[in-house]
Amino acid sequence: MAESRTATLTIDGKDYQLPVLSPTEGPDCIDIRKLYGQADVFTYDPGFTSTAACDSTITFIDGDAGVLLHRGYPIEQLASRSHYLEVCYLLLNGELPSAADLEKFEMTVTRHTMIHEQMHNFFRGFRRDAHPMATMVGVVGAMSAFYHDSLDINDPHQREVAAFRLIAKMPTIAAMAYKYSIGQPFVYPRNDLDYAANFLHMCFAVPAEPYDVNPVLARAMDRIFTLHADHEQNASTSTVRLASSSGANPFACIAAGIACLWGPAHGGANQATLEMLRQIGTPDRIPDFIEKVKDKSSGVRLMGFGHRVYKNFDPRAKVMKQTADEVLDLLGVQHNPLLQVAQELERIALQDDYFVSRKLYPNVDFYSGIILEAMGFPTAMFTPIFALARTVGWISQWKEQLADPQLKIGRPRQLYLGQSMRDYIEIENR
Ligand code: CMC
Repeated sequence: MAESRTATLTIDGKDYQLPVLSPTEGPDCIDIRKLYGQADVFTYDPGFTSTAACDSTITFIDGDAGVLLHRGYPIEQLASRSHYLEVCYLLLNGELPSAADLEKFEMTVTRHTMIHEQMHNFFRGFRRDAHPMATMVGVVGAMSAFYHDSLDINDPHQREVAAFRLIAKMPTIAAMAYKYSIGQPFVYPRNDLDYAANFLHMCFAVPAEPYDVNPVLARAMDRIFTLHADHEQNASTSTVRLASSSGANPFACIAAGIACLWGPAHGGANQATLEMLRQIGTPDRIPDFIEKVKDKSSGVRLMGFGHRVYKNFDPRAKVMKQTADEVLDLLGVQHNPLLQVAQELERIALQDDYFVSRKLYPNVDFYSGIILEAMGFPTAMFTPIFALARTVGWISQWKEQLADPQLKIGRPRQLYLGQSMRDYIEIENR
């Protein structure tokens, strides 16, 4: 990290020199770590709009240009030429694998896909109508009660085992959450299938008849996983890092990430987008809906639009739209009414000054729900699929953080606006 310049901050006539750190890509960062000690002031940035909370070598986003790089490789190239498990290796290890390394990596993931049999009972403790995200938060957190030999974060081998367990078992857990919610028996993983095909098998196979995974759908599933694999310091990743900074075990940290992802402003947006498209129903109702979105008092947002970092097209949305066309073509549903509403909504929004002036573009969640629904997933499964795909990103960032010798517990400060110190008043005198 180059540190060549300083910034001067003047407070009450006194100057403070702050180092300016230059990243490989992206804006310079003013290093304020010693500011409080020197000047007795905090910086104020709720929502972290101007704050780099850590350094990282994993993922880079240029929001103005609509660029997303994993370890330097553009997402478009990874989505079209690589596949999910190779991207997992890349995120975790920093470089693309050799053929032998990839084979070993895939073999290890495949051999960890089953979950402890006793965990089946844990699923059964949930109400049958539980949202699969509720089940996933609980079950992933409960992994720390089952895998005691991978809880020690100070042991590199245990960290490695925990990473493999989480990446390998997450599809099994997500599929089981789904099966439980529809009252079907759990389907065990199949080691002869690849990661995405195995997930489709665990979701859609039933013991009563054979189920053949359609390779085009498996490829689309794999691409959806790839597009969600990591995304720099987003809310759920930051949650994982904050939880981990206290020394919490990996399963607890990932459960915290899943909980954060659930919200509609984050991973829950894919479910919310599809519900919005359904609610609009037909293209002729779009103008009314757009007016409602523009009326701030309505509290209605155009879901699947806008992003904290992208002020241009989300590059993942472009690939997702193309995947939607492929999947709908394959399934013979080119005239999917939701797709028509989505396309028209996008067309109208991109010409409307409200969205143009605020640089609001479709994000990754705008088209993903249409694909997942066409594949047969209910809306409640959209966010669990995001969670299983993002697990590798969370784990990569978690491992990177733990390897940092400067790691400190994350402990933000505040701008206190409450009462100053005052004396307690006895109840009879209030
Ligand atoms: N619909 C209508 N107005 C919007 C939208 C939207 N989707 N997004 C932002 N705005 C407006 C907002 O009202 C504000 O207007 P003004 O300047 O007049 O007050 C302006 O744009 C800036 O919005 P913001 O809320 O300050 O921006 P943010 O960076 O805090 O929020 C966001 C980012 C993603 C939470 C927001 O764009 C949003 O709520 N989008 C819809 C939910 C969504 O699709 N989320 C998925 C994000 S991508 C996947 C992921 O990260 O999980």
